[in-house]
Amino acid sequence: MTPQPRKPIIAVYPGSFDPVTNGHLDLIERGAQIFDQLIVAIARNLEKDPLFAVKERVEMLEAVTFELKNVEVAVFDGLLMNFAREQDACVILRGIRAVSDYEYELQMAMMNRKIEPQIETVFMLPGEAYSYLSSRLVKELARLGGPVKGLVPPIVEERLRAKVGVS
Ligand code: PNS
Repeated sequence: MTPQPRKPIIAVYPGSFDPVTNGHLDLIERGAQIFDQLIVAIARNLEKDPLFAVKERVEMLEAVTFELKNVEVAVFDGLLMNFAREQDACVILRGIRAVSDYEYELQMAMMNRKIEPQIETVFMLPGEAYSYLSSRLVKELARLGGPVKGLVPPIVEERLRAKVGVS
């Protein structure tokens, strides 16, 4: 019997990405090595008062993933699982930095499995240098004039500087 060609594995990496950090980028690079296609999906309308507009978040993500040919950036509204189905994805990729992330991620993964049992959530660990890093802390640091160098890609640093004047 002739073996059937394997269906490409499409993964969706969802998040707010307000803004993308080096921790996100680390996970994107790891995901891009494992999955055939990785869709980095920005959730619209999650936060009432985001620092960056969705368009700006797309621009920054596109710039930092430019060289990863199997990575694309998209925006979704509403339920993640509806978006994942539309994309023919079979994996949701999420990063877990520390035990403290686990409870929230578990709830979300279980709820998503209830909505769509055919799509698996896969957790990956970012490099340990990023285990303390979050967009929320980066924004706080930037607003208070703290150094964000090394925490975010240079394009994000520039945009933060323009927006809130980072050091
Ligand atoms: O970067 P974040 O803020 O941790 O990402 C959270 C996100 C966007 C993955 C999550 O809030 C989400 O999937 N929102 C879309 C709405 C949805 O499907 N909610 C049900 C999840 S159980």
